[in-house]
Amino acid sequence: MLRGKHILLGISGGIAAYKTPYLVRLLTKAGAKVKIVLTESASHFVSPLTLATLSEHPVAADFTFLDEQGQVSWNNHVELGLWADLMIIAPATANTLSKMAQGQSDNLLLVSYLSAKCPIFIAPAMDLDMYKHPTTKSNLKVLEGYGHIVIPAEKGLLASGLSGEGRMAEPQHIVDAILDFFTKPLPLHGKKVVITAGPTYEPIDPVRFIGNRSSGLMGFALAEQAAQMGAKVILISGPTHLEQTHAGVLLTRVETALQMQEAVLEVFSDCDVFIGAAAVADYRPKELATQKIKKGATSISSIALVENPDIIGDLGRIKKNQFLVGFALESHDGLKYAQDKLKKKNLDAIVLNTLEHQGAGFGYETNQISFIHIGQSPVSFPLKSKSEVAIDIWNEILKKL
Ligand code: PMT
Repeated sequence: MLRGKHILLGISGGIAAYKTPYLVRLLTKAGAKVKIVLTESASHFVSPLTLATLSEHPVAADFTFLDEQGQVSWNNHVELGLWADLMIIAPATANTLSKMAQGQSDNLLLVSYLSAKCPIFIAPAMDLDMYKHPTTKSNLKVLEGYGHIVIPAEKGLLASGLSGEGRMAEPQHIVDAILDFFTKPLPLHGKKVVITAGPTYEPIDPVRFIGNRSSGLMGFALAEQAAQMGAKVILISGPTHLEQTHAGVLLTRVETALQMQEAVLEVFSDCDVFIGAAAVADYRPKELATQKIKKGATSISSIALVENPDIIGDLGRIKKNQFLVGFALESHDGLKYAQDKLKKKNLDAIVLNTLEHQGAGFGYETNQISFIHIGQSPVSFPLKSKSEVAIDIWNEILKKL
């Protein structure tokens, strides 16, 4: 059932690590290829040699290692993270959970986790009071908010001699959860999604342009999340420094609104969902100077503008079964303007972000949104990272697909 799947197993330092050789055995028996990364304290609980033998791969524990020629080599955590179809951290101790929730990176397991592009599973294990503690619960909630799947600890006798909840889920239960994940279709499996992101630059002359402050983060996060949910994604982005690495996302870079519209129209007809997260310039200079306009030139005292096409508005007119989601970036009276755009552009839903909320909108790593389905009351969310906001947006869209 797991033939050809690449599973990266991260082992942190708890007594439950003694069960991981059996977990590796079950995973490889199901056909998976397993690579292992473990923390230093995990190696006190389980032998790297046992794990390397069972997984048939060297176990990665340090940032560096000595290669066959005795040279110091670097354990490439980015490669490990990208190799994996799924990463499971088992056991995940309270310490490792806390560091994952905070994005700390002081060991190879943590940097591999931060580099991983694949779904993340977490099997916590610790003493019952540690498991019950509010900080552990809130760290697990944060990690679930990132879209990770937590396999809850089970009840039973603990290493402390106490009995209760805190035992790592049995290896067979962990494998069942992984099998379930790979055999159940992902929620966006078979769907084609088109997303616009970033700003557009409207050239004035060969060196100047009219643009805006969009970083592209929101659109890229939506694309990444859709791909993780199984969609085929076409991301059409205006100028941004962001890179896209998920295999399920095809990135087309454009510069102007006209180029963005052309790229969108090429792929719109057979898509299932379109999201307009780009901050498209509403106007462009009427004339493009072929040479740099010199200081003091009379032609710069005013720039005549012409209206750009309303990309999503035009899609609203030609759409058939596509689910159309727009964004509204407002500075005041957000709900009113968002509702107007929803109707005027014939959208199925709109995401409102307003500059009235600190940390929302352009440039920030965070956003605060209200999601409005046509004909329904807005659903408001607190300030979150743009990756978390993307999960909320997709969960709302999934209600209607
Ligand atoms: O990129 P980030 O820094 O992460 O910032 C994210 C964001 C603030 C840019 C994003 O969350 C957002 O709000 N994008 C839309 C911004 C915007 O231009 O809003 P608008 O209210 O002007 O446009 C409404 C909708 O029409 C949007 O879906 C927009 O993509 C679309 N539009 C607008 C003009 C136009 N000519 N064509 C369009 O398709």
